[in-house]
Amino acid sequence: MPDSIQTALRAAERRLTESSPSARTDALLLLAHVLGVGRSVLEVEALIHPDRLLDPEALARYEALVARRAGGEPLPYILGRWAFFRHEFEVTPDVLIPRPETEHLVEAGLAWACEQAQDGAGLSVADVGTGSGAIAVSLALALPGAAVYGLDVSPAALAVAGRNAARLGAANLRLAQGDLLDALPPAIVPDLIVANLPYIPSAELESLAVARSEPRLALDGGPDGLALIRRLVAQCVGRAARRFCLLLEIAAGQGDAASQICRAHFPEARVDVINDYAGHDRVVRAVR
Ligand SMILES: C[S@@+](CC[C@H](N)C(=O)[O-])C[C@H]1O[C@@H](n2cnc3c(N)ncnc32)[C@H](O)[C@@H]1O
Repeated sequence: MPDSIQTALRAAERRLTESSPSARTDALLLLAHVLGVGRSVLEVEALIHPDRLLDPEALARYEALVARRAGGEPLPYILGRWAFFRHEFEVTPDVLIPRPETEHLVEAGLAWACEQAQDGAGLSVADVGTGSGAIAVSLALALPGAAVYGLDVSPAALAVAGRNAARLGAANLRLAQGDLLDALPPAIVPDLIVANLPYIPSAELESLAVARSEPRLALDGGPDGLALIRRLVAQCVGRAARRFCLLLEIAAGQGDAASQICRAHFPEARVDVINDYAGHDRVVRAVR
């Protein structure tokens, strides 16, 4: 017997309650995805026509997606899309799911770039560890005058970033594969370097649910979580422009250690820590 929108949503919510802290939202977003409508359209539809029947094919597809979510698969990987900053990005299990906290880094990068030149004209920007391209594409679209480089060691991640750049029209973004700043073309002297590199200490990873679904390469920051950040800051010494801004996403509690790394390599720079809305250390900023 076919289900109505309301009964399908309620059944999904019940099924997801144990596995997801956002069961109702997940149920709504998955059904909106199956029906090809926005979440708000579905919410209105569920209020006005709760008894509207779902066709059996849509219901079967919905139940299959709900089963994946109940099995612990992250919602963004099931939907294949996730919102970040001002745009929606393709995401696959090859890339980290972009987090809202990372928007602080984008905002700080835009603020610095716009102080230097309107639309970032003439600036070179490097996003190290670009993943889905969420940061690089956001900066490229907001700074049409800048040349943006999205760098990653993972070819699979770069393929996703390339599709995002093409779909969102980031014509001023180039992607390159390699280890940290070694991937940047030798002639490029970056003015703005941003990086959300892996920063979780290796030993903590095993106990984290995130490590079971997102790429380890995107999470593992070595013994103290700062191994890649340390290497990148050292690389910046020989590569960054005379006036530059370096923005590094960090975990709560890493602010002092990451600031010390920046000060040791750039004693003349102004170094501070930007907190997220929860009041935690989120981004270390070094400006020279
Ligand atoms: C935490 S994810 C960030 C992804 C994306 N920038 C974001 O904020 O959503 C870290 C990224 O760094 C990349 N990465 C790890 N080690 C790297 C290295 N040695 N050189 C360049 N990229 C690296 C990973 O492949 C991954 O895409």
